Amino acid sequence: MTIILGIETSCDETAAAVVMDGRVIASNIVASQIDLHAKYGGVFPELASRAHVEAISGVVEQAVQDAGVGYDKLDAIAVTRGPGLVGSLLVGVNYAKGLALATGKPLLGINHLEGHVYSLWLSEPQREIRFPVLVLIVSGGHTELLLMEDHGKYERLGGTLDDAAGEAFDKVGRMLGLPFPGGPNIERAAQMGNAAVYHFPRSKRDESYDFSFSGLKTAVMREVTVSQPNQPGKKRSPEKNPKLRSDVSVNDAAASFQDALVGALVEKTVRAAKAYHATEILLAGGVSANQMLRQRMRAESELPVRYPPLNLCTDNGAMIAAAGHYRYEAGLRSDLEMDVTPMWPLTSTSYE
Ligand code: KG4
Ligand code: ZN
Repeated sequence: MTIILGIETSCDETAAAVVMDGRVIASNIVASQIDLHAKYGGVFPELASRAHVEAISGVVEQAVQDAGVGYDKLDAIAVTRGPGLVGSLLVGVNYAKGLALATGKPLLGINHLEGHVYSLWLSEPQREIRFPVLVLIVSGGHTELLLMEDHGKYERLGGTLDDAAGEAFDKVGRMLGLPFPGGPNIERAAQMGNAAVYHFPRSKRDESYDFSFSGLKTAVMREVTVSQPNQPGKKRSPEKNPKLRSDVSVNDAAASFQDALVGALVEKTVRAAKAYHATEILLAGGVSANQMLRQRMRAESELPVRYPPLNLCTDNGAMIAAAGHYRYEAGLRSDLEMDVTPMWPLTSTSYE
């Protein structure tokens, strides 16, 4: 059995967890910075890295203590190496390097997206997952459609050409005057709204497996915000500084937007799963917390659809430890010179 410590600081959660055998969570600590960033309507990078510095040692200590194992029992220390905000990533990576040096345990640099994929291995520890599976990762920074053929083996089928799905939720949330982050607040508003009131386009209805959400975002902006005249010397930015029209129903607009975005995700994911003979569809990332996405995917696919419990949809250390387990088992190790990789697409890891 392996015991792996996972550390995650790529964006706005300082998180650490201990995971047994890549599937059973022994502890899982998340210090969220949502309140810190809420007043800026988005993640403010300098504040994020400072908050990580303040929180990291307490969060990691707590995770190891809650697991009741002690550093000497760990097999390895897994840490998010990228993609993400450079200043935030550095806090976790430097802390993990220090721990690895102090304890003599191996270091494993993990791709954050691979972490999201492995959140599915944590949700039902007893269940066998048969490859190939179709994975849709939808978060604040990413929208990726992948065929996973084995542990560490990914074929990228498509992804967003512009905004990530969560980013679109957050931007539209801001236009509608909802608090940050937009996703859960739009979902709540949409439950009280009527999706048939506004007709927003479901963009990129083509043969590809790519997505595009900027057209949808612009359509919502045109419909719900007041157009303000350009001021000389000032860039007009209704996304950052929106003025909501007084006759707009926020709930109906939220429901109509969510319907269009979820529709696009479901249509292409279901088609890809069929075309590539996947055994099931796995949803991961912050947006996979969305109930409408879960329901529609299940209703429109003949295959089983799995998603993590809500606390494992958003960023956490357990998913990083779980991804670390499979790398550790494959004999992969990172050296202490390892640098952060703020841009890092998820491609196959060689598990020879
Ligand atoms: O995975 P995550 O915690 O961080 C990234 O790696 O980006 O995802 C955060 C994103 C945010 O954009 C947030 O608005 C979105 O996930 N989100 C949701 C929901 N809960 C979180 N979007 C739609 N519906 C939700 N219930
Ligand atoms: Zn994430």
